Amino acid sequence: MVRWLLVLYTILMWWCCFSNIPAAYLVKVNETDRLALVAFKTTIDRDPYGALSSWNDSVHYCDWEGVLCSRRHPHRVTELNLSSRHLVISLSPHIGNLSFLKSIYLQDNSFHGPIPQEIGRLFRLQTIQLNNNSFGGGIPNNLSSCSNLKILYLIDNNLTGNIPADLGSLEKLTTLGLGKNQLSGTMPRWVGNLSSLLSVSFAYCNMHGEIPQEITRVRSLKFIQLSVNNLSGRIPSGLFNISTINFLAVAYNQLRGSIPHYIGSTLTNIKSVFLIGNSFTGTIPTSLSNATGLLEINFSINDFTGPMPKDLGKLLGLQAIGFAMNRFQDDLSFILSLTNCTNLQIIDVGGNLLRGSLPDAIANLSTTLGFMSMRDNQLHGSIPPGIGNFLNLTLLHVGLNNLGGHIPTTIGKLHNLQELYLNINKFTKLPTSLGNLTSLSLLHLERNNIHGSIPPSLGNCRNLLGLYLSHNNLNGSIPPEILSLPSISISFNLARNALTGVLPQEVGSLKNLVELDVSNNRLSGPLANSLSKWLIPSYVGELQLKNLNLSFNKLHGKVPTEGVFRNGSAVSVFGNNDLCGGIPTLKFPPCPSLEPNKNNLSHKMTIILSVVAVLVFCLTSFVCFIIFLHRRRVSRKKAPSTVSLKHQLMRVTYAELLKATDGFSVENLIGVGNYGSVYKGMLNQGQIVVAVKVLNLQIKGASKSFLSECEELRTIRHRNLLKILSACSSMDFHGNEFKALVCEYMANGSLENWLHQNDQVENEGIEEESRNIDLFQRLDIAIDIASALEYLHCHCSSTIIHGDLKPSNILLDDRMTAQVGDFGLAKIISMVSTSSEEAQHQSTSTLLRGTIGYVAPEYGMGDRASTPADVYSYGILLLEMFTGKRPTDNLFKDGMSLHSFVMRAFA
Ligand SMILES: *[C@@H]1O[C@H](CO)[C@@H](O)[C@H](O)[C@H]1NC(C)=O
Ligand SMILES: *[C@@H]1O[C@H](CO)[C@@H](O)[C@H](O)[C@H]1NC(C)=O
Ligand SMILES: *[C@@H]1O[C@H](CO)[C@@H](O)[C@H](O)[C@H]1NC(C)=O
Ligand SMILES: *[C@@H]1O[C@H](CO)[C@@H](O)[C@H](O)[C@H]1NC(C)=O
Ligand SMILES: *[C@@H]1O[C@H](CO)[C@@H](O)[C@H](O)[C@H]1NC(C)=O
Ligand SMILES: *[C@@H]1O[C@H](CO)[C@@H](O)[C@H](O)[C@H]1NC(C)=O
Ligand SMILES: *[C@@H]1O[C@H](CO)[C@@H](O)[C@H](O)[C@H]1NC(C)=O
Ligand SMILES: *[C@@H]1O[C@H](CO)[C@@H](O)[C@H](O)[C@H]1NC(C)=O
Repeated sequence: MVRWLLVLYTILMWWCCFSNIPAAYLVKVNETDRLALVAFKTTIDRDPYGALSSWNDSVHYCDWEGVLCSRRHPHRVTELNLSSRHLVISLSPHIGNLSFLKSIYLQDNSFHGPIPQEIGRLFRLQTIQLNNNSFGGGIPNNLSSCSNLKILYLIDNNLTGNIPADLGSLEKLTTLGLGKNQLSGTMPRWVGNLSSLLSVSFAYCNMHGEIPQEITRVRSLKFIQLSVNNLSGRIPSGLFNISTINFLAVAYNQLRGSIPHYIGSTLTNIKSVFLIGNSFTGTIPTSLSNATGLLEINFSINDFTGPMPKDLGKLLGLQAIGFAMNRFQDDLSFILSLTNCTNLQIIDVGGNLLRGSLPDAIANLSTTLGFMSMRDNQLHGSIPPGIGNFLNLTLLHVGLNNLGGHIPTTIGKLHNLQELYLNINKFTKLPTSLGNLTSLSLLHLERNNIHGSIPPSLGNCRNLLGLYLSHNNLNGSIPPEILSLPSISISFNLARNALTGVLPQEVGSLKNLVELDVSNNRLSGPLANSLSKWLIPSYVGELQLKNLNLSFNKLHGKVPTEGVFRNGSAVSVFGNNDLCGGIPTLKFPPCPSLEPNKNNLSHKMTIILSVVAVLVFCLTSFVCFIIFLHRRRVSRKKAPSTVSLKHQLMRVTYAELLKATDGFSVENLIGVGNYGSVYKGMLNQGQIVVAVKVLNLQIKGASKSFLSECEELRTIRHRNLLKILSACSSMDFHGNEFKALVCEYMANGSLENWLHQNDQVENEGIEEESRNIDLFQRLDIAIDIASALEYLHCHCSSTIIHGDLKPSNILLDDRMTAQVGDFGLAKIISMVSTSSEEAQHQSTSTLLRGTIGYVAPEYGMGDRASTPADVYSYGILLLEMFTGKRPTDNLFKDGMSLHSFVMRAFA
């Protein structure tokens, strides 16, 4: 009986041990591993997808999500894989207790805090993947204990400090990824000791110094990513002999040197090479096309020269070529060789010195093409109709060339086109098929010669964010269709065309627009009507509009005060006909009240007054007409055209000067002097070129005395005095005092430029054809100046003192006749400033000082200018003209002066 019981017991025991039902009770649990995992979970901040919800007591830890246990040691954790689980958590140091761990995959989460040093204890570890988290602090410096480590991938974290030298002993390491961290220091030389290394990334790591030669000892390298650092020097030439390399990227560093001519014969496995954004020089080796596995080449933004490589067509798998922004000099024949590359997606050759026209054979390029840029070259001719073949094209940039003619209709077939740049060329006509480009988001056509009207079909481009048509000759009215594109948000720019009609009401539906510029057209009609929809905001909150430019049109009527018009700096409406109202900073006159007057009596008064006014007006007109007839008879012999021209010019306003000088732009700035800045400008629609001297007086008031003074100067005429055409005294649009003189523009600039040409060339390092004036011309100029000075001193109704005679005030016309400028400014300034008390102390003393070197010593600081002082300045000027030395030359110190320098020459 006992025997049977024993047999039964044994059978039961066997059953218990070899069936899996009571496993949870019979399989051993290693408490150390379990507690380490429990501790791992305690540091969790957020687990939005419940990745760790299975980590509970009713489940064995080997069955927890992401936990893998060993088969041979069933209770020991060998792998932790919680990649891409959206975990927000820090890494518990208890991970160091999972002593059987071989692999840690925690990439693509939001781990923060440091990588615990305890990881260094895990000697069985082969893989650490912590990339794309927010780990901070330094890289643990005891990883050398993990001697089995093959993959250390820490890319895209927030790690700081130097790279621990310790890593250099990890002989089995195949992948070292440290890129995209806040590391510092130089690229470690010990990389050369990692003899198993296949892949290395130090991109975006703040590395400086050179790429260590030692890296070329690693003969197995396949993948090298060192982009976006401050690496300098040359690429170690040995690197080009490692035939296993298939990916080489050193983009955006400060590397230099040239590519070895044998590159294509040694790097036989290369697929991708990125050298963009360095200072590499030399030509592209022809051997490149022997590396037939090449898929991507990017050599853009370097200093490469010579012709474009011609036989890239041998690289049948080629997908992308970037040769932009170098100094390649060639025609476009290289494009023809690319027709065999049936996977080509990107061509970027912009910003070089490419000439010639776009060959028709461009149509034979692969239809896989998605991106084509030839911007900023010297291409001419027209765009071949074959461009319509590239149905996958998303970006086409041929801006900044000399292309012209009609834009081909076939462009409308490019249904995937998102960005089209044809700006700064000579295109003449817009095809209506542009409206078929329904994916288009940016259309740049500014600065061409496009005439005709804007095709209403553009209103079909429902994804347009920015439309740039400025600086063309477009006429007709603005089609309401394009103004009802709700997508337009970045910019709507039609400035500087010849558009007529009213600004359509539809403009009000552009609710997301940031910039609207229709300035310098001929748009008419009442301003407020066009914008009424806008101003009645249909939703609560601010409008997006940051820049509204309606200047220089023929708009009239009331300027609103609502919406964008509340902010004076966002709006520009000057140069229109008869605007009124608006916020005070815009400085328009108040609008006449149009509301019907309820008071009957004053209503009658208004009528009576109106009648009287009309009668007075008629009478005055009649009298004026009689006077005019009389005058005409008297002055019939005089040239009427010049009189009327001068008269016109006399009424020049701030707005006109602003327009004439393109907003006092830096491009038009031709000089800066003691009293202000001089701008070149075009008045009367570009008929008259003038120099506008904007006086920097910082003196309030005194407009009357300024104008009368200028008027007096204007009557002074002499062959050798710069003619003052007009003066302007008013407020600028910021409410500041604005005073300017309008003078004749002198084509040959100032004497200063002629005398000291060479100094400037030396300073700026620019080679320019040297201009020179010979002795006789100098003599002529000296005589010219003398006669002008004599006229000012002796032959004007009252003596005029120049006060600031110097070469930069002597201007030369197209026949090299000298004309003295800035005469009488001294007087104007003293007049104007003495009439204004507040400025008396500061301005007179600073402005009347003259220029050091030319001011007579006895008439120095603060003293009144006088005729002898002018003569002294003239003397200095003469010496300067014939010696070529400035009175302020470095030579003249310690008692030596220009005067004594010349004296010594005669001694
Ligand atoms: C659990 O693991 C620890 C650390 O490796 C070890 O010391 C301990 O002996 C193990 N316990 C069992 C029951 O295997
Ligand atoms: C433990 O995890 C399992 C598996 O996810 C789940 O079914 C169970 O409801 C959990 N138990 C507790 C108490 O949370
Ligand atoms: C880690 O887990 C993810 C998701 O379960 C899986 O896709 C991936 O292949 C795993 N990685 C490894 C190396 O096992
Ligand atoms: C990276 O570290 C810096 C300072 O070490 C810290 O200010 C920043 O918030 C961190 N960024 C992330 C994404 O954790
Ligand atoms: C390209 O390869 C061919 C065949 O191997 C060889 O004859 C030729 O010299 C190579 N060209 C260059 C420029 O290295
Ligand atoms: C394209 O390939 C064909 C056939 O392989 C060859 O005959 C032709 O010369 C190649 N064209 C270019 C431009 O390389
Ligand atoms: C165009 O692009 C689409 C999507 O990227 C792709 O599926 C298609 O094959 C491409 N067509 C050509 C002709 O390359
Ligand atoms: C543009 O679209 C119109 C209407 O859908 C069509 O008739 C015309 O052929 C298209 N033009 C181009 C160039 O695709």
